[in-house]
Amino acid sequence: MKTSAILSAVSLAATLVAGTAFADDSRHAAVKARTAIMGLYANNLGQLGAMAKGEADYNAEAATKAANNLALLVQLDQSTLWPQGSDNGAMDGTRALPDLWQNFPDVMAKGEALGKAVTTMQGAAGTDLASLQAAMGGLGGACSACHKAYRAPEN
Ligand code: HEC
Repeated sequence: MKTSAILSAVSLAATLVAGTAFADDSRHAAVKARTAIMGLYANNLGQLGAMAKGEADYNAEAATKAANNLALLVQLDQSTLWPQGSDNGAMDGTRALPDLWQNFPDVMAKGEALGKAVTTMQGAAGTDLASLQAAMGGLGGACSACHKAYRAPEN
């Protein structure tokens, strides 16, 4: 092999390695971003849940804010945050099950169900405590339906 051929073989190999590292980085960044959104879901849901359970005083304004935050969050376009190869079988640091990528229509349906539950909560949260409590089950249920199907249990 001529030196230039060897050099280009070496630089091709280096490019491939760099490409893999980049794909790894971008998958980890996607996991970080999607779990951050989930954390914001949980924070706002938690505020509503605390009022529903009587652990926090009912406050119509605070409840409305939390419901409105959820309504904004469910509108985020997450399509780039769930790349192929970012399941818990392919990489560390995620609890997303491979099944999620096999069942996109169902995942979308579960996302839409969450959107509807959030809309119901938006109508209820600021009305009174009983209305908030009545909307809570549907909202929490929409989160857990997707987790049961597509999120691995915590180790
Ligand atoms: C359409 C499916 C879906 C819906 C709906 C959904 N989640 Fe998740 N959630 C997931 C998946 C999948 C993961 C695992 C993500 C990962 O580890 O890459 C997750 C992870 C989480 C986590 C863990 C985040 C972390 O730091 O590891 C929390 C907390 C969470 N979700 C809260 C919620 C709450 C609260 C709701 C409802 C308001 C909700 N999720 C709705 C699919 C969903």
